[in-house]
Amino acid sequence: MTSQRIGIFDSGVGGLTVLRELYRQLPSESILYFGDTARLPYGNRRMSEILTFVREILTWMQQQSVKMVIMACNTSSALALETVRSEFNFPILGVILPGARAAVSQGRRIGVIATPATAASNAYRRAIHEIDPTVQVWQVGCPAFVPLIEQNRIHTPDTYQVAREYLAQLLEQQIDTLVYGCTHYPHLAPVLKSILPRTVRTVDPAVYVVRAMAQELDLLGLKNTSPPQPTRFCVSGDPHHFAQLSVQWLGCTPIVEQVWLPAV
Ligand code: SIN
Repeated sequence: MTSQRIGIFDSGVGGLTVLRELYRQLPSESILYFGDTARLPYGNRRMSEILTFVREILTWMQQQSVKMVIMACNTSSALALETVRSEFNFPILGVILPGARAAVSQGRRIGVIATPATAASNAYRRAIHEIDPTVQVWQVGCPAFVPLIEQNRIHTPDTYQVAREYLAQLLEQQIDTLVYGCTHYPHLAPVLKSILPRTVRTVDPAVYVVRAMAQELDLLGLKNTSPPQPTRFCVSGDPHHFAQLSVQWLGCTPIVEQVWLPAV
């Protein structure tokens, strides 16, 4: 039993898709959200940079006394989670394994759209094949998506055009399941679903990582029992831009703080 917050972080607004699931599945929890907006996108960066950023964020979250963290960023989960997990004294959950488990339970020909770094890491293919080596997996890096979302250009011809190009490579393989391998991509669901045949199921790992967190909170006796506090939103970049952009997904304008992370 605790009133400590759950920490959740992403490079930008992608983590809001996980926050939405936290509100839905765990409405009594208090949450600390961090978006590393000064340094996004993460998806084109080197592993050494991602490791430094993730250590800085987790050190700061530790200073804020979080009880558990969701790495709501596939690039960080793919490149840094296994290395940093043992460096902190709170449980840290990533999005890859829950997403892989859900995908395997739904299909046999799985397409993954992800950032270039996540796709190149092969994290989804490895995780899926550890569960079932007979399932086929195709991964496509989609470098244009995160900048388009962070610039609020979701419903523009450019977005539809690049989405058609990225998905074409997977549709040629006759996938039956598509994993949103970046937490930003569920924001593109209306665009992606307008292109995908109805027979292709989509997997949003956010749903499953929050389910895993609910089980972990239960197991460790860490569920919040006092009334939840309003979500605290923090970013490394421009707080006004983040507030304006997130209103469409939060349904209200959040109060956003700019914070400086400790050097590690
Ligand atoms: C990015 O900043 O490129 C997206 C982060 C993610 O992989 O979810």
